[in-house]
Amino acid sequence: MPARTKEQLMQIPGDIHAVLTDPRTVISGDRVQIPFQLDDALYKRLNVILKDIGGRWDGRKAVRAHTFPFPVAEFMRACLAAGEWPSKFEQGWYPTPPAVVYDMLEHASIRVGHTVLEPSAGVGSIVKRAAEEMGIVDCVEIDARRVHALRELGAARRVIHGDFLDLDPLAIDEPYDRVVMNPPFNNAIGHVMHALGFLRDGGTLVAILPEYVTWHSDRATCEFRELIALAEGELIPLPADAFTPSGTSIRTVLLRLDADPDGSLPTHGWHQRQPLQLDLFATA
Ligand SMILES: C[S@@+](CC[C@H](N)C(=O)[O-])C[C@H]1O[C@@H](n2cnc3c(N)ncnc32)[C@H](O)[C@@H]1O
Repeated sequence: MPARTKEQLMQIPGDIHAVLTDPRTVISGDRVQIPFQLDDALYKRLNVILKDIGGRWDGRKAVRAHTFPFPVAEFMRACLAAGEWPSKFEQGWYPTPPAVVYDMLEHASIRVGHTVLEPSAGVGSIVKRAAEEMGIVDCVEIDARRVHALRELGAARRVIHGDFLDLDPLAIDEPYDRVVMNPPFNNAIGHVMHALGFLRDGGTLVAILPEYVTWHSDRATCEFRELIALAEGELIPLPADAFTPSGTSIRTVLLRLDADPDGSLPTHGWHQRQPLQLDLFATA
């Protein structure tokens, strides 16, 4: 298999391309089924690719296929035409394991009717549980395959397909009571800072972050820690193996921020107050 870095398109090797385009191979709906014998080594390599795209082997007699949380047929046609596939880990997709979601919801204390924003929702590990807590959940996701899975899940009031960082906090009707998020780690601080703009004064934000935010000494990370300290937020270490079920050994922490109405966090209310403050400054 070619050397790879995360978030790269990977070339489909010729022998695997031949298997996937074999007229006996069935690629339909959410499934890829290969009803003929492959040698072990070829099967193993094919299995790695199908899993990397997001598939899971379902060995039940009635299925015996790789199944995907999105309609794979159209997607696979595009991959085969291009001769390459995007990894499921593209855009930093690491689903939050159930035990971590449980911890997050303990901290978020979602009450019946609370509005909740999940701004990088993946296929909805957090969305589903937040909705089960009777939160009214809106979510955002950049990847079309995962948006499809979120819509199929049916747990959110709104599923927005787009780049969360492009959404204007002041364009929403009402800020959210809760923000719960596990953002892409390549810009985790940027996502949390942006998400604060959607949070109601008095609301709570809970986020999973890479552990290095607790010690990195670059300016953005130092300022972020200062902001957390000023707002009396908590950075709680998670077990070292918290993300092993999602295939990564990255160490993580849980951030909990309660937005004090008179506090320093750049919440939705804070954003709304900015133009007024500028006007006052202009007339002083
Ligand atoms: C670490 S995963 C977390 C998924 C989900 N929150 C969960 O806990 O299972 C990050 C997700 O953010 C999505 N994402 C990355 N950049 C994004 C952006 N700018 N706007 C919205 N979603 C984004 C990725 O596609 C991926 O599904």
